Amino acid sequence: LARITFITPAGQERVVNVEGGTLMTAATKNQVDGIEGACGGVCSCATCHVHVDAAWVEKVGPQNVAEQGMLEFDERATPTSRLGCQVKITPELDGLKVKVVGP
Ligand code: FES
Repeated sequence: LARITFITPAGQERVVNVEGGTLMTAATKNQVDGIEGACGGVCSCATCHVHVDAAWVEKVGPQNVAEQGMLEFDERATPTSRLGCQVKITPELDGLKVKVVGP
């Protein structure tokens, strides 16, 4: 089980407890504002864009090649950007904090 904190685009904290799935499914299952998951998790919509808290960047790991392609031209992308559907939830991510970029 991992406890994940999402900061919504409005600045609200949403804490959810998740087992399995991805950051995107964790957010959509719990109706976290600003994460739509429109493509169903196949890395082709970027409606699951988050900025990973600086303290967690290393544990979460870098963008994969598909994400790099999606985020390359996104002006809101930062070095800590990830697409939520590409981040698998593991027990190691317990405590993770991410900021939802939103639509
Ligand atoms: S859900 Fe579409 S890119 Fe992540």
